[in-house]
Amino acid sequence: MALWAGRFSKEIDAGVNTFNSSIAFDARMYRHDIQGSIAHATMLGDCEIITKEDSAQLVTGLEGILADLDSGALEFDPNAEDIHMFVEAELTRRCGDVGKRLHTSRSRNDQVALDLRLYLRDEIQAVRELVEKLCKTLVTLAQQHTETVMPGYTHLQCAQPVTFAHHLLAYVQMFLRDLGRLDDTAKRMNECPLGSGALAGTTYHIDRKQTASLLGFDAPMANSLDGVSDRDYCIELADALSLIMMHLSRFSEEIILWCSWEFKFIELDDAFATGSSIMPQKKNPDITELIRGKTARVYGDLQTLLTMMKGLPLAYNKDMQEDKEAIFDAVDNVKLCLETFIPMLETMRVNRDNMRAAVAKGFINATDCADYLVKKGMPFRDAYKISGTLVAQCIEQGLTLETLPLEQYQKMTPLFTEDVYAAINLETCVRGRVSEGGPSPDAVAQQLGAVKARLGMES
Ligand code: ARG
Repeated sequence: MALWAGRFSKEIDAGVNTFNSSIAFDARMYRHDIQGSIAHATMLGDCEIITKEDSAQLVTGLEGILADLDSGALEFDPNAEDIHMFVEAELTRRCGDVGKRLHTSRSRNDQVALDLRLYLRDEIQAVRELVEKLCKTLVTLAQQHTETVMPGYTHLQCAQPVTFAHHLLAYVQMFLRDLGRLDDTAKRMNECPLGSGALAGTTYHIDRKQTASLLGFDAPMANSLDGVSDRDYCIELADALSLIMMHLSRFSEEIILWCSWEFKFIELDDAFATGSSIMPQKKNPDITELIRGKTARVYGDLQTLLTMMKGLPLAYNKDMQEDKEAIFDAVDNVKLCLETFIPMLETMRVNRDNMRAAVAKGFINATDCADYLVKKGMPFRDAYKISGTLVAQCIEQGLTLETLPLEQYQKMTPLFTEDVYAAINLETCVRGRVSEGGPSPDAVAQQLGAVKARLGMES
């Protein structure tokens, strides 16, 4: 019979038991469940709610279960209702009646809220480390490409020249914001729900500050109803993870473009690409496509959590058991994507020449041509028009701004002199973009310095 079977006269229906059970997916929280129970048992002893001897015996029993689960000597019972019931039943099997004292002044409602916070707190750190590693990988790559000129795009049309370093560092900025969001979430969720009981606290004189501090929380949660019914932290985390995926997905989309025959800006290492079963020439960027695809499911997890919570009256409702699969799926997939994406970046080859050749097409220096006239005193709107007319003439004659004869420039305005060619030279165009945050090697060096300091990298 179940541990709660007191008022029941029948065994639970086998199908209902399976339907109701969460051990298949909450078993992964066993370490955190036991860690929480050890703190609870210690507090019960210290507050003399149970004897010191019983408390010590519970702690020893729990430590034994932890060691046996870690080593594989003890297996999870797939018929258990959840990880909490499993551990408690096993404790009672090992310690006899003393085991039955563990749940004094506690409910599974505050227990599961605690376990999930403890589990996700660790997972946030694991994701954080991966995002940080990704940033460092990007910085290392960027340092090799501060002079690698590439087209910058708007509307996926050649717009203005940038460098590959500048482009990569844009992603570093996004991932640094992601780190900030993970930290905010970790900070806000670091309050302890244990001691909220089922919903209304307890008549025992427990010490919530002690358990909170034993478990590394900043404080106990202030309201017991909120303590057991809050899942904001899951939603916040799923939101932070969705943004990480959105960034990875945009980056993936660019890599997919960059390794197409039409771009050929990069080539993925053979170990990080796949072939086709029919087309022998194919080398497909499956990793990046999968990341783009998995972004959808992480967004789905966020949607699941938001929708699951929206109609729930206070306090605990069984609907909330659905939180775990959603948030675990989001965390697992983000980790998986980062773990694969980082070595893929580390091993890809960058084709500077093709990037440079692409910059030479598409009149990417047309703004610089207008700016040349502005620096000679012409209002920008007039200069813009002349530059546009020159581009049209080039297209008609199959020329570029670099190869258009000076006479043709001068027909538009005598302000054009021989030095226009230096002004529209693509390297000059990049080097001239010295504004803070811009692509010139000097501006990028500044950005690199700031980013490296934030990541604790040696300068
Ligand atoms: N397995 C449950 C969950 O994940 C644990 C809490 C059960 N509480 C209850 N009152 N039935 O939410």
